[in-house]
Amino acid sequence: MSQDIKLMECAIAVRGRAYAPYSNFKVGAALLADTGQIYSGCNVENISFGLTMCAERVAVGAAVAESAHDWRLLAIVADAKEPVVPCGACRQVLAEFNPKLRIISSTLSGQTAEFRLEDLLPSPRQGILG
Ligand code: THU
Repeated sequence: MSQDIKLMECAIAVRGRAYAPYSNFKVGAALLADTGQIYSGCNVENISFGLTMCAERVAVGAAVAESAHDWRLLAIVADAKEPVVPCGACRQVLAEFNPKLRIISSTLSGQTAEFRLEDLLPSPRQGILG
């Protein structure tokens, strides 16, 4: 699907700007909003390690900063042996806006995987502030 390819190309481009001097593991993420607009993010590491921001959450911040809360697709790319799956914290943050988000993930060598956020994180709101 060409929209998948376009979004992955954006993720590849933003990955090139990742700040990852500690892990040397650069990640790019791109969100496709319902409007057709694309919001992207890369990981931003920190010497304190724990303050590191994943590419996915940086992309969420970029979208929300432009008032975009409705997304249909997330593309992730990394130079890994197998496609990256978002960490638990990113799953929860992504689920805030779309618990059924479709996620495509690719390695730089072109190995791909596809996920649904609802499979990665069931019941993201259950029992919270209820
Ligand atoms: N990382 C992401 O940005 N997204 C993921 O889905 C997996 C991990 C980053 C965090 C850290 O900067 C580096 O990759 C190694 O974990």
